[in-house]
Amino acid sequence: MEHYGNFKEELNKRTEKAEEVIRRWLPKEEGFARTMAEAMNYSMCAGGKRLRPILLLETCRLFGGDERLAEPFMAAIEMIHTHSLIHDDLPAIDNDDYRRGRLTTHKVYGEAMGVLSGACLLNYAYETMFRAFAMAPGDERVVRAVEIMAKKTGIYGMLGGQSVDVENDGKPITKDMLDYIYQHKTSALIEASMMTGAVLAGAGEEEIAAVEEAALNIGLAFQIRDDILDVTGSSQELGKPVHSDEKNNKVTYVTLFGVEEASRQVAGLSEKALSVLAGLNKKNEFLTALIQEMVSRRK
Ligand code: IPE
Ligand code: IPE
Ligand code: MG
Ligand code: MG
Ligand code: MG
Repeated sequence: MEHYGNFKEELNKRTEKAEEVIRRWLPKEEGFARTMAEAMNYSMCAGGKRLRPILLLETCRLFGGDERLAEPFMAAIEMIHTHSLIHDDLPAIDNDDYRRGRLTTHKVYGEAMGVLSGACLLNYAYETMFRAFAMAPGDERVVRAVEIMAKKTGIYGMLGGQSVDVENDGKPITKDMLDYIYQHKTSALIEASMMTGAVLAGAGEEEIAAVEEAALNIGLAFQIRDDILDVTGSSQELGKPVHSDEKNNKVTYVTLFGVEEASRQVAGLSEKALSVLAGLNKKNEFLTALIQEMVSRRK
């Protein structure tokens, strides 16, 4: 593995920046809908690795883009992701009680508020992205970025994947279908993050396509690692329950191939992503190190 000095320190800096950007646009806890705003902020402020906004920013940096324009999109992708987690944890989906080291939103605010605040965060992501139009009036890159975020979130993206995932709880499925599920429920938002960073920075079509391919592989590796941690990790470190997949009778890479082979696949997919990025004539050493670190992440 290539060595990157002070990775932890550099990661902390990015996490702090993402945290500041995310908090800047959260809804105010006031008025009659105050409980809804509290429920939205409860999960948004519970921590989380902030991986997607960091990937967005670092891809924007890779292509030398304007970081200020990336900021509303950093906040928005974390809102979309957090919406997916609030809904993923609902009794009707994975029925989990802990997330990001706290009781889940539906456990604290009730199921109805879990449904509403999850939906509201998804909408708020678009309200936040629209602010980028005021920052760069008439900029086609902003239109393209919003379009990517929308497509990678909906039926052709994360939500499509979640629907096939939940529909097949307890059923035997093929590797093809499992790959469809992972490419959509998980890779799609990683693709959205990195492609948006590239588009806002003015990357060319071939570069954007390479970023999409790299992100697809990063997402697959990320989800397979998540499956492994569901079996081998600790709820303390993860901030969410372990053995959630077994409880829901899910087919995963671990049930299909076992932990060892699944780990080999994580490493292979990550290598693939790195080699696609290495084909660009631009470099971001932190981004490379981050992708390498994710292979052996413990949370
Ligand atoms: C969890 O995502 C859902 C998956 C796609 C596996 P993260 O592991 O990025 O969750 P947070 O944002 O750090 O809580
Ligand atoms: C969920 O996969 C991915 C999304 C929330 C879109 P999981 O159901 O495995 O995620 P965790 O383990 O609950 O974070
Ligand atoms: Mg799930
Ligand atoms: Mg889950
Ligand atoms: Mg999981």
